[in-house]
Amino acid sequence: MKTTRREFVKKSTATLVGMGIAGIGAKKVSANDKILIGLIGCRNMGFANLKWFLKNQEVECAALCDVDSEILTERSQEVAELSGKKPVLYKDFRKLLEDKDIDAVIVGTPDHWHCIPTVYACQVGKDVYVEKPMANTIQECDIMQKAAQKYGRIVQVGQQQRSAVHWADAIKFVKSGELGKIRRINVWANFNYAAGRKAVPDEPPPAHVDFDMWLGPAPKRTFNPARFHGYWRMFWDYGGGLLTDWGVHLIDMALWAMDVDGPPKSVSSAGGQFDCADNAIETAETQHVLYQFENFIMVWEHNGGIQTGPNRRNYGLAFVGTNGTLWADRDNWEVIPEEERMAAVEPHKTDGMSNEHHVKNFIHCLKTREKPNCDVNIGRNAAYYAHLGNIAYRTGQKLVWNNEKKYFDNPEAIEFIKTNYRAPWKLPEI
Ligand SMILES: NC(=O)c1ccc[n+]([C@@H]2O[C@H](COP(=O)([O-])OP(=O)(O)OC[C@H]3O[C@@H](n4cnc5c(N)ncnc54)[C@H](O)[C@@H]3O)[C@@H](O)[C@H]2O)c1
Repeated sequence: MKTTRREFVKKSTATLVGMGIAGIGAKKVSANDKILIGLIGCRNMGFANLKWFLKNQEVECAALCDVDSEILTERSQEVAELSGKKPVLYKDFRKLLEDKDIDAVIVGTPDHWHCIPTVYACQVGKDVYVEKPMANTIQECDIMQKAAQKYGRIVQVGQQQRSAVHWADAIKFVKSGELGKIRRINVWANFNYAAGRKAVPDEPPPAHVDFDMWLGPAPKRTFNPARFHGYWRMFWDYGGGLLTDWGVHLIDMALWAMDVDGPPKSVSSAGGQFDCADNAIETAETQHVLYQFENFIMVWEHNGGIQTGPNRRNYGLAFVGTNGTLWADRDNWEVIPEEERMAAVEPHKTDGMSNEHHVKNFIHCLKTREKPNCDVNIGRNAAYYAHLGNIAYRTGQKLVWNNEKKYFDNPEAIEFIKTNYRAPWKLPEI
């Protein structure tokens, strides 16, 4: 039976009231309109994004939301200085979503808090710029993809390399075939922060933080500064270590170049915590992941606690072909030819504007309703690969794709694909 628009609005409104949001407020942005933005999660990347948004004269920051009122006050003053207007401040993102004038939200919260605000925003008719990785579990990514599609929203995932000029021409070069047969792609990231910070005892949460709301759908846990702002990345309930933090950006480049938008044949992983005994960390400090495809392999490697890497790049990709190897990172790409098999290639440098381009692309898509450069399908695919690597590591199993079942032949792995939310939060049903 077909649902009429009136029935749809009635049903959606009932759902929204159920999740603590009053009203539905889709607004259409036309070419000359002001674009009103709300930011959810203001400390680091969320605010960096907002500043790139504000470089576009049609953008205004209408509201900020954070569970840390010190951050909220500080960021609100900065917005007032930048734009001359004070935003409305919220501690609960559901209240921000009730503002019918807001066109789009930036979700700059830790990874475990990407799914719910994104889905709720789609349900009230707002477009979303959500940070990467798209979500903290594969099941959440699936729900977000469905929500964007069902509610017809523009959702850009914050993998800004998708809008970078020098990455696009590196990918074009790989696809040109000049490197010959590509049999292997090495992808790696080595960063000090990913070994966690020095462990300290638990303590009461600061008075200016609503810690229960920070935990949200994640399990109840005592407060510890080494698991909080910024450092949550190294704890499974909130993040996935370097593999989800940097892996989605870099693995996405490999998938793009090789035209991969489905699962690998298998995934296996090894690693551990070998040099961080005094630190607070649950994720792998050192990790290796092997992705098997029909005609090539992709190898991910990361090391927390160090910052050097192959070819003097602490992170990057190497596309290994018969005629030469293309090395790429955010600064540049270059080709090292196999002797006499190909002509020298001029190195290409970045214009240093990937974030600006990515934000501009989102704003353009708000007006035109075109597909953004990193839509939910691309964001979901990259997040899948990162999470699969972590699932292989955590189960100690080689994950093998079963094409008939369209799933992995590993019951234990499937448990990690699912999401268990802490009440009263419920996994949205789309
Ligand atoms: N695209 C990139 O290059 C890039 C770079 C850095 C971070 N990121 C991503 O950005 C996201 C945020 O990372 P970060 O480094 O800014 O983390 P952070 O810990 O520095 O900041 C997160 C902010 O979200 C707030 N917050 C937490 N729960 C909230 C809630 N329920 N409602 C409102 N606010 C809430 C926190 O109080 C904090 O202010 C992550 O997903 C991360 O992976 C992307």
